[in-house]
Amino acid sequence: MSQIKSKKRVSELAEVYTNEREVEAMLDLVKLDSYNIDKTFLEPSCGNGNFIIAIIHRKLSTITDDKEFNLIKVISSVYGIDICENNVQETKQRVYDFLSEFMDISNISKQIWHILNQNIILGDTINKPENITIVEYSFENHSICENLHNFKNLLEHTNNIFDVKNTNYINYRVFPNRQTS
Ligand SMILES: C[S@@+](CC[C@H](N)C(=O)[O-])C[C@H]1O[C@@H](n2cnc3c(N)ncnc32)[C@H](O)[C@@H]1O
Repeated sequence: MSQIKSKKRVSELAEVYTNEREVEAMLDLVKLDSYNIDKTFLEPSCGNGNFIIAIIHRKLSTITDDKEFNLIKVISSVYGIDICENNVQETKQRVYDFLSEFMDISNISKQIWHILNQNIILGDTINKPENITIVEYSFENHSICENLHNFKNLLEHTNNIFDVKNTNYINYRVFPNRQTS
């Protein structure tokens, strides 16, 4: 895949995508975390998703059971923001296509798009972080609790990024038809 789309985009957006070998080498710097489905990653200028895909790939490789639920957990732990709308759309579609090559996702397609639409988002992470909402997910049985955070607040609380007050909680079942124990 080419590392640039046009000279105009390079000059306007500093858009030069990272190649796969460099992505893998950089992720190896945080190797254990990159394979850990409970670790959260946020790419503040995700481009067309090279890091996002590689992280999801690593995390998925550790899944052995309860594949649908664990896949949902994996994608809920990875966030991407970009200032360019078509990069956001391309990243979401690449992730979805990658997941469907990994396994049959037809039963959880709606839940996947719900999370991708919340986690891979349009935003200016440098000049307008206050306009960006980050959704934190927590899991109990097969339900998800969503907790909304303002990105600017998160940046100001980097030591404990999800310990922010005044947030909204939303609960929903990941698999509405499945019995929980
Ligand atoms: C050098 S590319 C890197 C893309 C990707 N991280 C990669 O390594 O393949 C820089 C990206 O930053 C995005 N970008 C530039 N300014 C931004 C901003 N203020 N907020 C969010 N994204 C921005 C561009 O649209 C572009 O996709």
